[in-house]
Amino acid sequence: MTQDAFAPATNEWYYPSEEIVRSAHVPDYEALYAEAQADPEAFWAKQAQALDWFQPWSQVLDQSNPPFYKWFVGGKTNIAYNALDRHAKSWRRNKEALIWEGEPGDRRTFSYWRLWKEVNKFANVLKSLGVKKGDRVTIYMGRIPELLMAMLACAKVGAVHSVVYGGFSEQALADRIEDAQSRVVLTCDGAWLRGSIVKLKDMVDEAVKRSPIVESVVVVKRTEQPIKMEQGRDYWFHDLMNLPIASEMCETEVMDAEDPLFILYTSGTTGKPKGILHTHGGYQVYTSTTLKWVFDIKDEDRWWCAADPGWITGHSYIVYSPLILGATSFMYEGAPNFPYPNRWWKMIEHYGITILYTAPTAIRGLMRFGDAWPNRHDLSSLRLLGSVGEPINPEAWRWFHKVIGKERCPIMDTWWQTETGGFMITPMPSVGLKPGSATRPFPGVEVDVVDEQGNPVPAGTDGNLVIKKPWPSMLRTIYGDPDRFKRQYWSAYEKQGWYLTGDSARKDEDGYVWIIGRNDDVIKVSGYRLGTAEIESGLVSHPAVAEAAAIGVPDEVRGNVIYAYCILRANFQGNETLREALKDHIRHEVGPIAVPTKIEFVDSLPKTRSGKIMRRVLKAQATGQPLGDTSTLEE
Ligand code: WT7
Repeated sequence: MTQDAFAPATNEWYYPSEEIVRSAHVPDYEALYAEAQADPEAFWAKQAQALDWFQPWSQVLDQSNPPFYKWFVGGKTNIAYNALDRHAKSWRRNKEALIWEGEPGDRRTFSYWRLWKEVNKFANVLKSLGVKKGDRVTIYMGRIPELLMAMLACAKVGAVHSVVYGGFSEQALADRIEDAQSRVVLTCDGAWLRGSIVKLKDMVDEAVKRSPIVESVVVVKRTEQPIKMEQGRDYWFHDLMNLPIASEMCETEVMDAEDPLFILYTSGTTGKPKGILHTHGGYQVYTSTTLKWVFDIKDEDRWWCAADPGWITGHSYIVYSPLILGATSFMYEGAPNFPYPNRWWKMIEHYGITILYTAPTAIRGLMRFGDAWPNRHDLSSLRLLGSVGEPINPEAWRWFHKVIGKERCPIMDTWWQTETGGFMITPMPSVGLKPGSATRPFPGVEVDVVDEQGNPVPAGTDGNLVIKKPWPSMLRTIYGDPDRFKRQYWSAYEKQGWYLTGDSARKDEDGYVWIIGRNDDVIKVSGYRLGTAEIESGLVSHPAVAEAAAIGVPDEVRGNVIYAYCILRANFQGNETLREALKDHIRHEVGPIAVPTKIEFVDSLPKTRSGKIMRRVLKAQATGQPLGDTSTLEE
């Protein structure tokens, strides 16, 4: 799954059928890549023209102050206008924009017209709470249509949304509210997961105690268990939406192309999460172009991106780009195997889903239940499949291809990051595939695999994956910390002006890129990105723990699981009770996804002479690998 847990065969090819190639938006990748390469600015300007602008840009790319690049300078636009308003004026107004199924089995459908009106109402509600252009709004909801509406409503009024994934807990939420200085939080009473309720509102209450900057909390009723509503601070969404102020008409704020659209927090190498900032103009161009070409979106498709809207995958490819393209999206609230492992397959059959985009961890999880579950369903509506989040092991790739795609559906293994906003290394339906490789860069994108000095490494050799040219949906900064932005992404290859991805990779003889995994202290658990530092500072915040180290250890289904090593303070006993208490502590401090599978109590940790924990050594020990170079090891 990670590292060399599998040795990919670089000469195993799969070719799409002639029919797929012929009908694809991009039948010839090479030609398009060459066109973009010849004049990237003209290429992106052409794609931007497919969208509506209140005022055209005067310059496609401003490179005068690297790494603070600007795209479509002087252009006025609003992504919500392109996602909704313009469709409400066309024949698409009666097309399904969103089809949604709740975990208990309830269903809701929104046409473009209806979604537009709901978002207008929601936007008016936000205004009535005093939300203005540039204000940050934190959104903490389950996977319900209101989450998508909340994001679009923020965009519409020019506010900056910060969606916090529902799998994070009160402290993580409080930190993100604090960092963004959000005075408004949008949430719901709870979320359904595996038949039980995740009590989101309770967590908001706790988070707001820790970040008292919050003035208003809007609560969508979903799970209906009793919750506390604080007078003067908490409002029911349905009450506000019924007020006369929540009219169905709302002007869309005119935004500069470079005005912020959202902040999305992601894990880095320190305990403090990084607020990745994206803007209206370049992001709308890049996400819509990539979705259209990679997943070959046509009007008759039913597109299902099974990610959570709380992650970048959901922001870019559930919320914004499908709507910009006028596509029909499907969204499902709950767990893939609830109440039975055929839930996904049943929904694909029921709704006639044509494209399914998911993560290797989900594929491996469902594969485990055997072929009989998918085989009971008619999956013939599917025409394309996709994968994202971590390297897909060829075994899972082949299963997905054969059992789900019936060997008809090419798999788009898309490599990208929160920071990149959209697909960077990815196939298109017309190119030859190799299981386990994300293939080659998207047109207009230039990547390479290089050594520490920046020399390209030979085919088959590991190196650092870098991006050599700016692209429209690149992150603009880390919110409130431009120095960290420079240091983190642009200092390693400052001379060359390249972006450091943090991944190691290798290229094969055909120029296909194989991602090996993270190079830094980031662990991918079920495709979720967690910093060792976050888990460690969570552990150390418990009174019993003096020092802690966390590592990722390969796991069959989840890609990685977390092992933690703790040095206890004097007078604390390392026993089962404490172990459980620490797990519970992490559940609250970070979130259920960050809970270590194993906690070991130790007397010392392997460190360098300068005191840096050598997680590599712990990892080698845990996985029974050779320790490697230990010359810098102090103890
Ligand atoms: C990291 C970014 C981009 C949406 C979800 C993750 C890993 C992502 C792939 C892929 C191999 C992948 C990388 C990357 N990754 N996609 N197709 N093959 N690895 O976003 O949480 O920002 O994580 O996910 O390590 O750096 P993210």
